[in-house]
Amino acid sequence: MNELDAIVDSARVAFSQAATPAALENAKARFLGKTGSITELMKGMAALSVDEKKSRGAAINLAKQAIESALNERRQALADAELQQQLQAEALDVTLPGRVRGQGSLHPVSLTMERLEAIFGSMGFEVAQGPEIEADWYNFTALNTPEDHPARSMHDTFYVEGGSTKTPNLLRTHTSPVQVRHALQHVQSYKTLTGSDDLTGMPEIRVIAPGRTYRVDSDATHSPMFHQCEGLWLGENISFKDLKYLFTEFCRTFFESDDLVLRFRPSFFPFTEPSAEIDIQFQQGPLAGRWLEVAGSGQVHPNVVRNMGLDPEQYIGFAFGMGLDRFTMLRYGVNDLRLFFDGDLRFLSQFR
Ligand code: PHE
Repeated sequence: MNELDAIVDSARVAFSQAATPAALENAKARFLGKTGSITELMKGMAALSVDEKKSRGAAINLAKQAIESALNERRQALADAELQQQLQAEALDVTLPGRVRGQGSLHPVSLTMERLEAIFGSMGFEVAQGPEIEADWYNFTALNTPEDHPARSMHDTFYVEGGSTKTPNLLRTHTSPVQVRHALQHVQSYKTLTGSDDLTGMPEIRVIAPGRTYRVDSDATHSPMFHQCEGLWLGENISFKDLKYLFTEFCRTFFESDDLVLRFRPSFFPFTEPSAEIDIQFQQGPLAGRWLEVAGSGQVHPNVVRNMGLDPEQYIGFAFGMGLDRFTMLRYGVNDLRLFFDGDLRFLSQFR
């Protein structure tokens, strides 16, 4: 191997051993730099004859070119490796599952409320609300419930401190107080509107009031907090047959079951007379044939009509109070009421 080939070879070896661009530039200097071996050879040509210069110069140039191309190759290889490393460090695995943000949904009982508001809304009912911390007067007295009625006892009702019979002193035991609150408001707004106490021409009261209710009660079918929806239809000529028609239509629509049968079973409530429990019977499905109690109802008691600021000789109608948790359980086939209040996502996410 001649001297030039040996230089080219050792340049190739040096370049390939340079692991970084800086090391490579240092190696380059040893061959092509001011005192590099190729440069030195060039300098040595000064003493040669013209002919020798020609051939020697061409040979040196060839060696120089070979070294330069080895250098460029190595530069490119180092740059490629660096890029490759960077790409790997910043690599994104687009096949990894994303971080999903759980999608919320309405609680099944809220779904029932929405459905109920839509159905009664389509039948001309307004939606009213009342306070959950209620006054004794609205919850019991105005509803013709005597002082010694067992529902008023501490065993059944949660009392709160600091109230009096007319200011909030208990957690409402049913949504019925909203009947009185809404009727009083309805009458008052009509009087304000007409600027007189004459109620001739006042629109009928047609309202539902869904919401939370509370009783001292807790087992698989009772929760101290539960949901009811009140209904009230009061006018000059509203009878029990309207109640039967309305409630039947409602239940058939709610459960999407045209052959659903209703039964009005005589009962007692201080605020209605006569009173009835409403039972429903499915003709199909797992519950077919069984009677299921879903609501209390009755013709509004004259004393209650009076407490609404209306003359019971002129105004008549009916009210009902239904268990929303019950309706929800029946609609979705849920068998334990407590599932609604545990907050278990495995249960709740099924209603999305
Ligand atoms: N408030 C009664 C209850 O909670 C239900 C009811 C409402 C009954 C309206 C008659 C009229 O059981």
